Amino acid sequence: MTNDAQPRTQWLGRWGFVLAATGSAVGLGNVWKFPYMTGEYGGGAFVLVYLACILALGVPVMMTEIALGRRGRGSPIDAIRRVAAESGGASLWSLLGWMAMLCGFMILCFYVVVAGWSFSYLWKMLSGGLAGSSVDDMAAIFGANNESPLNLGFWSTLVTLATMVIVGKGVQAGIEKSVSWMMPGMVVMLLIMIAYGAFSGGFGDALHFLFAFNAGSLSSEGMLAAMGHAFFTLSLASGAILTYGSYLPRNASIGRTTLTVAVADTLVALMAGLAIFPVIFANGMEPGSGPGLIFMSLPLAFQAMPLGTLFGVLFFIMLSMAALTSSISMVEATVSWLTDNKGISRRAAAWGTGIVLWIISTLAMLSFNVGAEWTLAGKHFFGWLDYLTSRWMMPLGGLGMVLLAGFVLKSETLREELGLSPAMHALWLFMVRYVSPLGIVVIFVDALGIATLDFGEQWPWLLLVLAVIAVIGELASPRLKRVLSA
Ligand code: PFF
Repeated sequence: MTNDAQPRTQWLGRWGFVLAATGSAVGLGNVWKFPYMTGEYGGGAFVLVYLACILALGVPVMMTEIALGRRGRGSPIDAIRRVAAESGGASLWSLLGWMAMLCGFMILCFYVVVAGWSFSYLWKMLSGGLAGSSVDDMAAIFGANNESPLNLGFWSTLVTLATMVIVGKGVQAGIEKSVSWMMPGMVVMLLIMIAYGAFSGGFGDALHFLFAFNAGSLSSEGMLAAMGHAFFTLSLASGAILTYGSYLPRNASIGRTTLTVAVADTLVALMAGLAIFPVIFANGMEPGSGPGLIFMSLPLAFQAMPLGTLFGVLFFIMLSMAALTSSISMVEATVSWLTDNKGISRRAAAWGTGIVLWIISTLAMLSFNVGAEWTLAGKHFFGWLDYLTSRWMMPLGGLGMVLLAGFVLKSETLREELGLSPAMHALWLFMVRYVSPLGIVVIFVDALGIATLDFGEQWPWLLLVLAVIAVIGELASPRLKRVLSA
C-alpha cells in the first residue's frame, strides 16, 4: 500500500525530477569543494576513493532514498515512518528522517556563505575589481573579501533571500525552471576553461595530479573525507533527494534517474578539477591552499585568456546558479515537513526557516573574520558545520538508509518501487545489504583508529571478509530483520 490517496505535488514533465535532482547534486560541492579537497588530500588516491564511494555507496543510497521518498510521499520524517510502518518496522526509524532534515539545514548554514563568495566574485568580475592582479594579489583579495563581516554578511544574506524566494514560490514554478538552462551553461563554461588549460600549460601536471594513483598518499582521514564528499556531492542523507523523490511520479524509473544524476555530477566534478588544476600548476600555486582555492586560481585564468572578463562573468553566474539550485533543495525537506504537519503555507514555512537560517549562517560567516578565534578543538563554527555533516551525519544517515532498505523493509515493497530487472534488483540488494554498510563501517573503523587498514595490500582479505559476511547475512537475514524491526 502506498500513500497515493494523499494528493501531493508532482514534477512537471518527464525531465522535471532529473533536472531538479541534478541541480541539487551539482553545485559548490563539485566546483568549489571537490578541487580543494583533492588538493588537500593529495590528488589521485583521493579521487579514486571518491569515485569508488560514488559507485559503491552513493548510487545504491540514492536509489534507496528516492524509493523511500516516492513510497512514503512525504518529508523524510513522515516518509520513513510510513514506509517502515508498512513493513512492521519501528517508528524510531523516523529518527533517520530527523537527522537528514537537520543535516540538510546545517549544510545550508555554511553553504550560503560559500555561495556568497561566488556572488561576490561575480560582482568583482563585473566591476573589474580583479583586473591586473598577480598570484599574491589574488590571495590577498580573497582574504580581504572575508575580513569585513558587513561585506561577507551582505552576500550570504543575499543568497539566503534568493533561496527563500524561490522555495516560497513552490516546487514547479520555483525550482524546475532555473535548472533547465543552468546545467548546460555550467558544462559549456567548464569546457571552455578546460580548453584554455589544455593550451596554456599545467595540463599534464593536472592530469597526473588528478589521475595518477599513489596508494601511499591517502591518509585514513582522507578516506573518510572522500566518503563524506561522495555523500555531500550527491546530496544524500540530507533530506534533499528523498524529498524530491516524494514528488516523483510512479512511472519514472528510479535506476535510470539515479545513474543520470550520478554520472552528470561526477563529470562536472572531474571537469572542474581539469579546469582548475592546470591554472594552479601553471602559476606555481599550492594545490592544498584550502577553501579559497578556486577563488584564488580561476580569476588568474580569466585574466589571461581572450574574452576573459566575459567568460569570468558567465562562469560566476553559472556557479552562483548552481549553488542556488542546491541550496533550494536543502530547505525542501524542512519546508515540506512544516507544510505537511504544521498547517502553514509554503511561503510562511520558507520565510520562517529563512530567519533561523539567517541567524545561524551569520554565525558561520563570522568564522572568517571576527569569530576566527572562536574555536573548539581547533575548528571554528563554519568548520564544525562542515565536519559534523560530511564526516558523520551523512555517512551514518546513509548507513541507516541502507540497513532499513536491506533488512527491515519487505522485499516486495522495494521491488515494486524500484521496478528493476531481477538481476539488477539482486545486485542492488547485495549492495545495500553488504557492500554499502561494510564500506561505511570499514572507513569509520579505519578513520577512528580502531584498526589500521592498508587497503593497498589488504583488499583481497577485505573481499573475502565481505563474501563471508554476505553468506552469513543471507542465512541470518530473517532473524536480523526481526532484530532491526524491533
Ligand atoms: N550536492 C550539493 C553540492 O555538491 O554542492 C550540496 C548538497 C545539496 C548537499 C543538497 C546536501 C543537500 F541536501
